[in-house]
Amino acid sequence: MAKPSLYASARAPGKLILAGEHFVVLGSPAVSMAINLYAFATAQATAEAELKVEANILLATLGDAERKSRPDTKELLEPFRLAARESLDSLGRKRKGVSVEIECQIPIGAGLGSSAATAVAIIAATSRAYGATMDKSRICQIAFGPESYLHGSPSGVDHATSTYGGLIQFSKPDKVTKVRVKRMPSLLVCDTNVHRSTKGLVRSVVKGAKADSEAYRSRVGEVSEISKAVLRALRRSDDVELGELMNRNHELLVEIGVSHPMLDKLVMAARKAGALGAKMTGAGGGGCMIALCEDEQMTSRIGSALRKLGGSPYLVSIDPTGVVSSTNSTVLK
Ligand code: MEV
Repeated sequence: MAKPSLYASARAPGKLILAGEHFVVLGSPAVSMAINLYAFATAQATAEAELKVEANILLATLGDAERKSRPDTKELLEPFRLAARESLDSLGRKRKGVSVEIECQIPIGAGLGSSAATAVAIIAATSRAYGATMDKSRICQIAFGPESYLHGSPSGVDHATSTYGGLIQFSKPDKVTKVRVKRMPSLLVCDTNVHRSTKGLVRSVVKGAKADSEAYRSRVGEVSEISKAVLRALRRSDDVELGELMNRNHELLVEIGVSHPMLDKLVMAARKAGALGAKMTGAGGGGCMIALCEDEQMTSRIGSALRKLGGSPYLVSIDPTGVVSSTNSTVLK
């Protein structure tokens, strides 16, 4: 067995969903993209079987709803302790411990995959601190534990995107395909600054699908076609087609009740300001929307329209690599 090193660090990206959120839990494929906002973890192997996870930044970046309800720090950190514990178990180090520090530049509860990226970074850093470089499929398997703890019944799209990076076609955890395209579309992300929990939203969709299976079957079929068409449009660099597909996907998400008035307002404003397409991204209920922009001029016009309505727009680019780790204390910033 490899000797534990003193420190290790890892970085894992957040994500955007271009098509298929929520419906992916019900069986449609989703298309997602890793972005250049990251969760960082530093891990130190310890001889005692103790798990220490520290993350002051998490509380500092919590959304309004969570901040008001004064969450218990211990409970907030539980999924991340689980990530560290399951990594040690998987390495056959049940009696060993680890001390982990996390930092996250991905807004929390905004639909950009902050919890998945944090779990993935912890798993990679913990295993590296014990001298092992885990392969990505194993990292992904382990991340399912903390993600299920946090979100109930996740599809796995968030942590698969964070682990593998790039542009992803996701159907199931064992059906993840990295897609190569000549040119990535220019996407403006805008945070509603209304943050919420993914767990409740996913639960409400699953409940709705059980109660009205006929209507949901037809929507799942339509979203499956949208996701396939999104991939075709991306491969052909056809932004006009991509924009129309994003618009339709947003309507379907509105129909199942996961959007939010502020999201709808920003989506409409982006389209009015010239976006080729706009939709919510991630779990919804607030969080972020994305707008497809043709050029820089359009991006800045859309950005100011969204800012006027109280949104926080920012540009992101693709992270092609996914999780990376290193055997020293340099957090890979
Ligand atoms: C959250 O980023 C994506 C959802 O589809 C949930 C999931 O797939 O686990 C809403």
